[in-house]
Amino acid sequence: MKRESSGKKVEKCDASTARLIDAAKRARANAYAPYSNYRVGAAILTKSGKIFAGCNFENASYGACICAERNAVGQMISAGERQPIACVVVTGGKKPGSPCGICRQVLSEFAKDMPVVLVSEHRSGESRRDTSLAKLLPDAFEFEK
Ligand code: THU
Repeated sequence: MKRESSGKKVEKCDASTARLIDAAKRARANAYAPYSNYRVGAAILTKSGKIFAGCNFENASYGACICAERNAVGQMISAGERQPIACVVVTGGKKPGSPCGICRQVLSEFAKDMPVVLVSEHRSGESRRDTSLAKLLPDAFEFEK
């Protein structure tokens, strides 16, 4: 999960990444996205070995839409966990989507760096990009009192 590659076909995968991808796909299937039709699933692996998944859920008041990644973080926090060690995001499209800026910042609250695997499910096949939180959000904001 360390290499960065672009639009790579999913070939082989370690067991924990495979479990995360599966959890993110299952969450994505429950996405509530009647406005954008852009369905997203995210899954976070924590240090304890547990997986927390979330999907995006939209609202008629567009600004109230919640991204899959932030939903997954909410599930993790609600379960009393705070140490994510890997994250998978599954979108549609030919190319994997990349987490929005707010989600990058929210993830960085709990991990300065971790592998982030981006996968897209498309009728023409599956595509994957391996990156990291530090690459996605260098120089993240930190609150200094
Ligand atoms: N979305 C996510 O779930 N994650 C992101 O990182 C970017 C965008 C959702 C929000 C909205 O429901 C839809 O994708 C279109 O923006």
